[in-house]
Amino acid sequence: MGKIIFENSGEEKELAEGEPIAELCEEQGVPFACTEGVCGTCVIEVLEGMENLSPMTQEEKDFLGEQDRERLACQCKMLGNCVRLTF
Ligand code: FES
Repeated sequence: MGKIIFENSGEEKELAEGEPIAELCEEQGVPFACTEGVCGTCVIEVLEGMENLSPMTQEEKDFLGEQDRERLACQCKMLGNCVRLTF
């Protein structure tokens, strides 16, 4: 089991390992559109625990470039432990 801390609301939500984070993010108000890593609408900033998310997809690399702070919420799966994010 992993945990996501939403910096915006201060809420903490649990999520099973391997599960996409999109639904929880949407509940918290992250906007989504394409859900396929193309439009960039769902960009989030990972404040802690980037290593606890699945590796960047090719779509994310294409859209975000080489960096280690932003992710596309529609592309990320929880690997466990804790991730703190804002949007
Ligand atoms: S919803 Fe379009 S990139 Fe995530």
